Amino acid sequence: MSENTIGKKSLNWVDKRFPVIDLFERHLSKYYSPSNINIWYLFGFLLLIVLVMQILTGLWLMMNYTNTAEGAFSSIEYIMRDVDYGWLIRYMHAGGASAFFALIYLHMFRGMMYGSYQKPRELIWVGGWFVYVLLCAEGFTGYVLPWGQMSFWAAQVIISLVGSIPFFGEDLAIWIRGDYIVSGITLSRLFAFHVVLLPILIIAVVFFHILALHEIGSNNPDGIDVKKHTDQDGVPLDAKPFFPYDISHDFYALGVFLLIFCTVIFFFPEGGGYIIEYVNYEPANPLSTPAHIVPSWYYTPFYAMLRAIDFPLFGLTAKFLGFVVMAAGIAIFAALPWLDRSPVKSIKYKGIFSKVFLAGFVISFFVLAYLGSVPPTETKNMLAKVFTFLYFAYFLLMPFYTRFEKCKPVPERVGDAA
Ligand code: HEM
Repeated sequence: MSENTIGKKSLNWVDKRFPVIDLFERHLSKYYSPSNINIWYLFGFLLLIVLVMQILTGLWLMMNYTNTAEGAFSSIEYIMRDVDYGWLIRYMHAGGASAFFALIYLHMFRGMMYGSYQKPRELIWVGGWFVYVLLCAEGFTGYVLPWGQMSFWAAQVIISLVGSIPFFGEDLAIWIRGDYIVSGITLSRLFAFHVVLLPILIIAVVFFHILALHEIGSNNPDGIDVKKHTDQDGVPLDAKPFFPYDISHDFYALGVFLLIFCTVIFFFPEGGGYIIEYVNYEPANPLSTPAHIVPSWYYTPFYAMLRAIDFPLFGLTAKFLGFVVMAAGIAIFAALPWLDRSPVKSIKYKGIFSKVFLAGFVISFFVLAYLGSVPPTETKNMLAKVFTFLYFAYFLLMPFYTRFEKCKPVPERVGDAA
């Protein structure tokens, strides 16, 4: 019996019990993606790779990490100095967190540019947004684990925000901390969230995200519905199979990504204090507050919003209002599918207002990111207010400017777009 026959027979045996061939065809070789998708469509694949990398490096770190206030800091030093390749695993995990956020922001921005959140992809978008929220929680809980000065004080600042909620905030904060101050008890519960609950939820929602995408199919830079024109077998004319075409682009992108990632990991592992903050090389000390508490770079736009609200209103404290504005800054992304009333998807064919407001959003995001990473001054606080306003204007005025602006006609077929 030839090898080929054994191979075929085994495949048939498995296929009769679990439909591998059908799954392969439905999700890869007969899954069609538009022929005009561009490099903005590579980030989803890279996000999947980084997710797997974080899970594997996290697993290895966990083998030598101690989740107690007494042991956490020195267990990280042990990983860095004594565990074989422990330094590499840790740098990959810490650098992976930054890469994850960089990629997710690019991935989300692509969706905003091309209106990928619009009908019928609302659930793909909302699912993705939920992954982003979970990832923010994952990043925060992970940041606390080394139990350095920044870990401790970040936990202190973030949990104290919950304490600002009127009436029951303080009780809620004590319940979350498990103590009257951030302590080893807090550390061990954040550890449990970081290594069990949040990763499971992230994997589950990513699974939903991809399933929902494969049900509807990808959007494209022109926002053309490629399912409208098909051949006699129902295959879209302006599309190509994901396997082998898109997947080969994805692997090329992975090569480029790994070149950049490895350069950072091997030559600039701390990323100038942006990937691992220098203050976090000092063990947590509840009696000494660092002069300048800043979150990781990927949270700084929202931190700037929190600090921008420095006035009480209607009997509510400035801290609580800042907390609400910060949370709203993240939550509002989920509403995009219902805020956009434009008859066209892609920014290419939207009117001038959509373009100006999207540019305003990008500028405000970067300016807020900067303002959230430097010590506050009166002028900087003023700027933070202005740019927080501009940030929200993009979302809240969208139902008006997208309805009334003049759009360009969208081509019928992909080739017509040129
Ligand atoms: C771990 C996080 C995530 C993973 C692994 C992931 C994965 C993917 C993959 C593989 C694709 C198809 C390839 C591509 O279009 O790039 C995709 C598409 C998409 N994702 Fe995500 N995603 C994640 C987070 C998000 C977030 C946070 C959002 C938005 C808030 C989002 C919104 C979308 C949308 C709208 C599409 C369809 C885009 C289109 O067809 O134009 N994703 N995602």
